[in-house]
Amino acid sequence: MTVLNVAILGFGTVGEGVYKTIESHQEELTAILGKKVKVVAVLVRNKQKARKISDKILVTSDFNEIIQLPKLDIVMEAIVGSEPSFTCLKKAIQKGCHVITANKQMFAHHGKELMKLAEENAVSVGFEATVAGGIPIIQTLRHLLKVNQVQSVQGILNGTSNFILTEMRENKESFADALTLAQQKGFAEADPTNDIEGIDAFYKLMILSKIAFGKEPDWKSVEIQGISDISYEKIQEAEKCGLRFKHIASISKKGDEIFGSIKPVLIEKFHPFYNIEGVENAVNVQSDIVGSITLQGPGAGMFPTASAMIEDLVYVSQYKAELQQQSLAKTV
Ligand SMILES: NC(=O)c1ccc[n+]([C@@H]2O[C@H](COP(=O)([O-])OP(=O)(O)OC[C@H]3O[C@@H](n4cnc5c(N)ncnc54)[C@H](OP(=O)(O)O)[C@@H]3O)[C@@H](O)[C@H]2O)c1
Repeated sequence: MTVLNVAILGFGTVGEGVYKTIESHQEELTAILGKKVKVVAVLVRNKQKARKISDKILVTSDFNEIIQLPKLDIVMEAIVGSEPSFTCLKKAIQKGCHVITANKQMFAHHGKELMKLAEENAVSVGFEATVAGGIPIIQTLRHLLKVNQVQSVQGILNGTSNFILTEMRENKESFADALTLAQQKGFAEADPTNDIEGIDAFYKLMILSKIAFGKEPDWKSVEIQGISDISYEKIQEAEKCGLRFKHIASISKKGDEIFGSIKPVLIEKFHPFYNIEGVENAVNVQSDIVGSITLQGPGAGMFPTASAMIEDLVYVSQYKAELQQQSLAKTV
């Protein structure tokens, strides 16, 4: 049986989830792809850390060792920050590998360049996991866009912020106490700035804008407001009027212009996000034929994020098969 050789870059929450899912779903993947999926290499920062990885797999902190492997089909990346991720994925594409990423910061900054490079090298880039974790919003938008015109996309795209707002309302806590709890539960980083100030949601919104409208607004024009100014008293006042604060990222198109914002919004009971609580994410798409669609689900975590990356693995592998068929058709 032929084999699909995969390298995983990063072996933290997401990378380990991808590794475990490939192991646990080998039979299903083989049935869908007609090939065995084999992890051949893992990139980490600290090689000395103990990890549950088969000793047949190359574990290295030097990406050159991975890129020099004679047989490598797919590179799946789950590192934090733009570098070395961007450089590694560029090299992988130039070698002819499909690439899949969960790294929204890198992809928001460099997605366009990676997509162009991938097109030139006849490979594909999967990035479903960069937005809303396990919710298949990228593929859903692609399907919708075959016949619909998208008018707007709104989302609760950061589970940490949503958890803090829920916790403050339900358990009558201050912002500081709710943030501490989020950190204790592993939902927030030691430095939570990106989550609570809307930066993480901003990167995800820009990725959605590119898919929904084919372009992004000027980044400087996007209003970004976090949740750190929302006090328990404000939440209580809103509750008395039947309203809830939700941290909502929105993008819409008017004429040729794209408008984006990320800010706390007071919403009423009938709003599709009213009951989105805790670390859940949700995305609402308004489009001309189908109208309003809302998807909700886990926005982060080991297995929801791995699920999105494995969906991409199936997608890019089938794309490769399609490309091979097309070039075969051209030769006959
Ligand atoms: N966590 C989630 O639920 C989630 C959801 C969606 C998307 N994402 C995105 O997925 C990516 C990974 O997130 P995570 O939560 O899995 O992070 P994490 O737990 O901190 O793991 C990061 C991994 O990357 C490795 N790494 C970091 N810098 C490196 C470098 N310079 N060279 C080689 N390896 C390096 C680390 O190696 P060591 O183990 O040796 O330190 C670690 O294994 C991020 O971009 C994040 O935004 C995460």
